[in-house]
Amino acid sequence: MQTLLLSASDPKTAATAANLIMNGELVAIPTETVYGLGANGLNEAAVAKIFEAKGRPQDNPLILHICGAEQIELFCHHIPQKAYDLAEKFWPGPLTMVLPARDCVPKRTTGGLDTVAVRCPDSAVTREIIRLSGVPLAAPSANISGKPSTTTAEHVLHDHDGKIAAVVDGGSCRVGVESTIVDLTDERPRLLRPGGITPEQLMEVLGDLVVDKAVTAQIDKDEVVKAPGMKYRHYAPSEPVVIVSGSREKAAAYIRSHFEPGDRVLCFEEELPLYEGCDPLSYGMEADVNTLSAGLFAALRELDDPSIHQVYARCPVGGGVAYAVQNRLKKAAAFHIVDAEEEV
Ligand code: TXA
Ligand code: MG
Repeated sequence: MQTLLLSASDPKTAATAANLIMNGELVAIPTETVYGLGANGLNEAAVAKIFEAKGRPQDNPLILHICGAEQIELFCHHIPQKAYDLAEKFWPGPLTMVLPARDCVPKRTTGGLDTVAVRCPDSAVTREIIRLSGVPLAAPSANISGKPSTTTAEHVLHDHDGKIAAVVDGGSCRVGVESTIVDLTDERPRLLRPGGITPEQLMEVLGDLVVDKAVTAQIDKDEVVKAPGMKYRHYAPSEPVVIVSGSREKAAAYIRSHFEPGDRVLCFEEELPLYEGCDPLSYGMEADVNTLSAGLFAALRELDDPSIHQVYARCPVGGGVAYAVQNRLKKAAAFHIVDAEEEV
C-alpha cells in the first residue's frame, strides 16, 4: 500500500482523510501531544487494523477522539458534572477522561472493558476530520507498540510507511508527551497517566485526586491495573536506560566514571559541556520543562539504535509537566534509577 502524505495546511486534507476513515482505513493524525494512529472507533474491523499495525496487545484499550464536549454523551453514560467541568476548562487539550461506555462502543475499542477513554484533541485539522467523518476516531500513539511515541510525521512514516493509508503532517507536536488520563468511574478521581494537564491543574477543578500505582512504580505483567497500557514496558529504546539523579556535578562525575565506548548520555542542554567526549544528546533545557517534554520522544527514538550499549539519562525534578516527563523516562528505564549523591 502506498501511504499518502497529506499536509495539514492543504484545505482538501480533512475531506480526504475523513473519506479514508469512513472506508475503514488507518490514517495517522497530528495532535498537540503525539501523533495518533486513527481509525473509525465504532468499526471493529477498522479498529482491528490498529492493533495489527502497532503489534498492540488486544487487552490494551484505545482512546476515542471526539470533536467537543457535546459528544461525550454519545459514547458514555453516567457522566458526572466534574467531567463537564474538566472539558470546559481543558478541552480541546491534552486531557483524556475514562467514563462508563455506551453499548455502541465496540469491546475491541475498549479492550473488553465497560469503560471508555475520551478526549478532544487541540488540532483543528484532526477535529475537522472527526467532524467530517461523522465518527469518533480511535487512536493510540502511532508508534510500534513498546517503542517511543511519534511526535513528527517522519516518525510515523518510519514505523508505518506502506502499512497505513495516510499520514496527516501537522508538524512537530507541541506538548510531546501523551495526554493526561483521569478515571472518573470511581468515587474518587484517579490519575492513570500524567501529561500536559498537570495534577495541580486537575486538583483545582476536582479538589481531589488519587494517583494510580502504575504512575509511580513498575507493574507486574499479571497485575490487574486500571489503565492496561501502563503495565507494558514502554517508550523504550532497544538498549538499557538508567536514570542518574542528583546534582549536575555529582551526576556528571558518576556518569563519566562509568561511561564506556558505545554508551550514550541523554541530558539537558545546559549540561552538554559536562559530557564532552561522551557523545551527549540533549532533549531540551532544564530551565524550560516544555522543551524537555517536546523533545523527549524524538531523542529516545534517536537512541533506539542496537549499536548503543547503555544510555545514562538525566531527568527533571519537580511537579507540573516535569511529572509527566519523569513518568515517561522512568518507564523507558524500567524504573532503573541510580542516585549519584549516594554513589560518589
Ligand atoms: O495523547 C494521547 O492520549 C495520544 C494521542 C494520539 O491522543 N494517545 C495515546 O493513546 O497515548 P495510547 O493508546 O498510546 O495510550 C492510551 C492509554 C493506554 O495506557 C490505555 O491502556 C489507556 O489509555 N486507556 C484507554 N482506555 C482506557 C480505559 N477505558 N480505562 C483505562 N485506561 C484506558
Ligand atoms: Mg502509546
